[in-house]
Amino acid sequence: MDTQALEQTARAMIADGKGLLAIDESTPTCGKRFADYGIDNTEDNRRDYRALLLSTPGLGENVSGAILYDETLRMTTADGTPFARMMADHGIIPGIKVDTGAKDLAGHPGEKVTEGLDGLRERLAEYHDMGARFAKWRAVITIGDGLPSRGCYAANAHALARYAALCQEAGIVPIVEPEVLLDGDHDIDRCYAVTEETLTRLFAELRDQNVHLPGLILKASMVLPGKNAAQQADMREVAAATLRCLYATVPASVPGVAFLSGGQSNEDATAHLDAMNRLDGGRAPWKLTFSYARALQQPALDIWRGEAANVDKAQAALAHRARCNRAAAQGRYDP
Ligand code: 13P
Repeated sequence: MDTQALEQTARAMIADGKGLLAIDESTPTCGKRFADYGIDNTEDNRRDYRALLLSTPGLGENVSGAILYDETLRMTTADGTPFARMMADHGIIPGIKVDTGAKDLAGHPGEKVTEGLDGLRERLAEYHDMGARFAKWRAVITIGDGLPSRGCYAANAHALARYAALCQEAGIVPIVEPEVLLDGDHDIDRCYAVTEETLTRLFAELRDQNVHLPGLILKASMVLPGKNAAQQADMREVAAATLRCLYATVPASVPGVAFLSGGQSNEDATAHLDAMNRLDGGRAPWKLTFSYARALQQPALDIWRGEAANVDKAQAALAHRARCNRAAAQGRYDP
């Protein structure tokens, strides 16, 4: 394992307040996002939309890398340039989602386990050849009556660790993403407890699988009350609870934590990241940055609506959110 190359990539992913743009929606998920705007889910539309995002002028100043879906990494732009080449030309490191989705966990009604380990070694070698230098695997943890179960924590942590070890063997930095879902009416303390347990078990499994922590990025969910909770939390409460949880669980050798937005509004996702960085004041051993999909893309999609005439304005909207989030990753966001 080339630990130096892994560490170098991991550090580049979180350098100078930069974060990640997640555009790794599977084809059906992309279809759901497009449907809200009446955009047909065709291959051409997916290509045009993702090319629009990735060729946004100046994006590479605020975004270090982008997470693609398999189809996108294999695509070429209208003038025949492979996407990975276009990204490298813009200073954006190509990343790839490699899990094959969260499936029902047998024996555990209401819970999921993420699949995709079979054949992963071969797929990673191919992705590396195509230019990918980091990967993503997302596990989902559902909070509910009596959930999560021990079996759900264990199955997902184990799969994430096996994935991470395979990535590092292939010279690819793993983003390990155990997302504690926002769905439900639980309070912030319950989210704290579940997130703490999720991360504790994850890092135990990563250790068992000999994963090199300086060559990995954690993609975490913030500690928040459920979206239907009677009592919502203010910015400072979310920032303090999330920081406390990370300090309790994340080893200092992990270089960075890049948050998912998880259904928060664009502004909330940015403001929470900013509040954490202000509160922490740079004391944490890991960088705290963003790896947002919806909270970065939504304004651009809202403007584009599938019309070539709207491309410039849509790119400006993405560039704006990327700038705001980089400022937040440095505790300097001014809404
Ligand atoms: P959101 O920021 O929309 O939650 O997406 C994050 C993610 O993991 C997508 O891959």
